[in-house]
Amino acid sequence: MSYFDKIKNAPIKDEPIIMGIETSCDETAVAIIKNGREILADEIISSATEHARFGGVVPEIASRGHTTAILTATENALKHANLTLEDIDAFAVTEGAGLLGALLVGVSFAKSLAFSTGKPLVPVSHIRGHIAASYLADKTLEPPFITILASGGHTAIIAVEDYYNLKVLGSTLDDAVGEAFDKVARVLGLNYPGGPNVERLAKDGENNIKLPKMLKNYDGGEYDFSYSGLKTAVINYVHNTESRGETINRADVANSFQHAAVDVLVSKAVNAAKQFGYKTIAVSGGVGANGYLREFLLDAAKKHGIKVVLPEKRYCTDNGAMIGAEGYLQYKKRNFADLSLNAKAVVSLQG
Ligand code: KG4
Ligand code: ZN
Repeated sequence: MSYFDKIKNAPIKDEPIIMGIETSCDETAVAIIKNGREILADEIISSATEHARFGGVVPEIASRGHTTAILTATENALKHANLTLEDIDAFAVTEGAGLLGALLVGVSFAKSLAFSTGKPLVPVSHIRGHIAASYLADKTLEPPFITILASGGHTAIIAVEDYYNLKVLGSTLDDAVGEAFDKVARVLGLNYPGGPNVERLAKDGENNIKLPKMLKNYDGGEYDFSYSGLKTAVINYVHNTESRGETINRADVANSFQHAAVDVLVSKAVNAAKQFGYKTIAVSGGVGANGYLREFLLDAAKKHGIKVVLPEKRYCTDNGAMIGAEGYLQYKKRNFADLSLNAKAVVSLQG
């Protein structure tokens, strides 16, 4: 019997133990999740410092990093959870979106584990994984809720209608918010990864530089975003000020940009929750680790009696636990892959 013939009718466990494997960018992450909500182990080995001197992720270096780190991350996760491979009920892996070469390391590795143990292989969308991190943060959280998806590749206000149906209420028309943080970091001479460094610098500055209000007169989707204009305005401000021979206050630039980038995200999410009657707003994706975003959202939501779910910062940025959490949902639906599973550079938000 072929591998897939064997697993396609495998019984679904009530409280499965799922291994989540994530290699879409520069984090090699392996976690073990029980019953979709409990983190038994969570290992992250990052190659970020190797990319720093290039100013951004170098795909080839990321892939090589995964190849050398993935077995260690897996062994450490099993050791930490006090389990063996035989105890794992399914292997969930990010199939996309992300860097193809990087994804292929995780996908191939997960295939070999699934094949050798005879357990299901569960393909997971990276974006859905980010959203599922909220189920780990708040074990009582159930849809419906709104999530602010804010990462290096995506920016959207999404209504999570049930565990499987996502409704995109608005999204970026050009750059993602994390991408804007990274570009602004670069023009301010800050190292990769830019977001946390912009946040750090912003603490010493003030919101005193006039930057364009995003999509003020845009007559398209009420919940859409555009970050390319904001990014260009910051770059122009820095270059024009320097060319006049004036010194820029970098901390003020960082602070003013952070306000402009975050305020619109939070206010649109709160407006969407009010308009459509959602009682909870969660955050997902790397920019969700931003302290100013977290405080501002807590404040704004409180005024309207809206509950906020903030995954720990470690679970906003890329991790294996979120892939295990979403893997659990897909496992329950028997969304198993055969061994022809391939990496995908792009996946639809609708999955
Ligand atoms: O979700 P993520 O780890 O990877 C993607 O799926 O893209 O997000 C990475 C993005 C980067 O652009 C990074 O600069 C940004 O999240 N980021 C932050 C912070 N931490 C990470 N942006 C603002 N403030 C932070 N503290
Ligand atoms: Zn991510």
